[in-house]
Amino acid sequence: FLAQIGPDALLRMILRKSPGQRSGDDLEIIYDELLHIKALAQVSNTVKRELASVLIFESHAKAGTVLFNQGEEGTSWYIIQKGSVNVVIYGKGVVCTLHEGDDFGKLALVTDSPRAASIVLREDHCHFLRVDKEDFNRILRDVEANTVRLKEHEQPVLVLEKSPRASTMGSIKYTVISGTPEKILEHFLETMRMDTHHNPAVDDFVLMQCVFMPNSQLCPLLLAQYPFCFTYTQERVEYTVAIKRKVLTLALRWASTHSYLLQEEPAALAFLEVRGPGKSLIRQFSHGEERLQKKQPIRNQDDILLKVFCSDHTYSTIRVAVAATGREVISAVADKLGTNDELLLVHLSSSGEKLILKPNDVSVFSTVGINGRLFSCPREQLNALTPLPDQEGPTAGSMSSFELMSSKDLAYQMTLYDWELFSCVHEHELLYHTFGRTNFRRTTANLDLFLRRFNQVQLWVVTEVCLCGTLSKRVQLLKKFIKIAAHCREFRNLNSFFAIIMGMSNPAVSRLSQTWERIIANTIRQVRHCRSQPFNPEICQPNKNHAEVRGYVRKLCVVDNQRALTQLSYRLEPRRT
Ligand code: CMP
Repeated sequence: FLAQIGPDALLRMILRKSPGQRSGDDLEIIYDELLHIKALAQVSNTVKRELASVLIFESHAKAGTVLFNQGEEGTSWYIIQKGSVNVVIYGKGVVCTLHEGDDFGKLALVTDSPRAASIVLREDHCHFLRVDKEDFNRILRDVEANTVRLKEHEQPVLVLEKSPRASTMGSIKYTVISGTPEKILEHFLETMRMDTHHNPAVDDFVLMQCVFMPNSQLCPLLLAQYPFCFTYTQERVEYTVAIKRKVLTLALRWASTHSYLLQEEPAALAFLEVRGPGKSLIRQFSHGEERLQKKQPIRNQDDILLKVFCSDHTYSTIRVAVAATGREVISAVADKLGTNDELLLVHLSSSGEKLILKPNDVSVFSTVGINGRLFSCPREQLNALTPLPDQEGPTAGSMSSFELMSSKDLAYQMTLYDWELFSCVHEHELLYHTFGRTNFRRTTANLDLFLRRFNQVQLWVVTEVCLCGTLSKRVQLLKKFIKIAAHCREFRNLNSFFAIIMGMSNPAVSRLSQTWERIIANTIRQVRHCRSQPFNPEICQPNKNHAEVRGYVRKLCVVDNQRALTQLSYRLEPRRT
């Protein structure tokens, strides 16, 4: 009988049996077949055995048959046993062809989203092995090394991997490992949930999107995703409406997150068809003076006036955009000086340290150190550059003026100022700062000013203490700083609080033992006061392994050699070149 019908026909016959009717021998034959299927190469033999008992044979006679449509609910996963299919996406047409041994239809099952493409038979008499959703979820969904790779025109466009961390729903989450911006967006829209009012994934997307695609790319892609001219059957209408709603939701959320950029990006403006005032604000950034007259976030397209010094300490004032690059600053200086010489742009710190800025560096002014200055000169003059006298800072302290101000008022005004600087920092600046703003050609000026303020407060404490020649005055001064710090903490301004504390622990201050001796009595009183209020162990209910936690926190093991720690750190992440 076997000889008569041949092994292929036998296999087909067995596969046509309903799973419950397959004998032990049948399962063995199916299993043998599965060992040779490319799509299952990564799957363990145990899983293959399980699959043998649930696989269903499905065949179609005619080329052009639609196995399923984009937008439909996913009910099965397929392996091509014979023949080939086209993967078709609305607006794109055939994006790839799959052949014998390939599989498809996994995406909708693992991401619980509609079919991302339609599958159309490319030839007559195609054979498939089908696994229905329930069996797929039971047998395959959780297996290790589960990766979905999608291609379009032979190029990989999206790779998803099972994420080690389960989502809150308890289901397995698939995360995007890599992909083209276009496909990532397409996939994001497909899997975007519209059932919750405020979907945090949308926030994450609009915040992080600029890391992998600029707005100039996002806008046309979003437009392309918006189905302007699809009219279909009722089912297709629903799918189309759903996509439209998703695109609009994303676009609105994007616009509100990026509103600060709308004025400066033609692509974004055209996309939203709004026109901003387009007026640039001029802000004066002169050193040592009030930097911002009016606290509004600094924007890339704002102009600033920049003082750039020559080696003879004369300077030219140039006007450039906030996001201007080193190259743009140099060419503005050369223009002003009327020179054709090749100029360098140098950051000179008060200690005389020189840093040559690169032509691609963005927004050079905001990273200038507190008493640093920008210099510009031909290379041969580089060694002759010396700091300006005023870079050294004051030679006398300002205690006489601020000792008349109350510590609480000082702390209050410091907190107001910190808050203004803090609220000007845009979330995106943190991104640019982390991933390198040169890559985005965007300023992080607001963040830079906020960070600079922290250093400035710290140095203020050290400066005032070190410029105070009389011991008794110095003691008063320290007490004053401690009071200001306490008020800052009371106002929940941990920024200035820590800046002052760090200023006082600066070696130049902490080594002044005669000064500290004078306030030790105060400190002892403080310690006595703190101990008079017993610790309340009720503040936290210890959990079951508290003995272990207790043992652990009492025996912390550390490396105390800073050099060894630095070496370890460089071994983890070598210095960027
Ligand atoms: P699913 O979304 O369930 O249904 C359509 C299937 O087409 C999809 O899973 C993938 O398995 C397969 N496919 C192959 N290439 C692509 C592609 N470039 N984009 C989307 N789907 C693709």
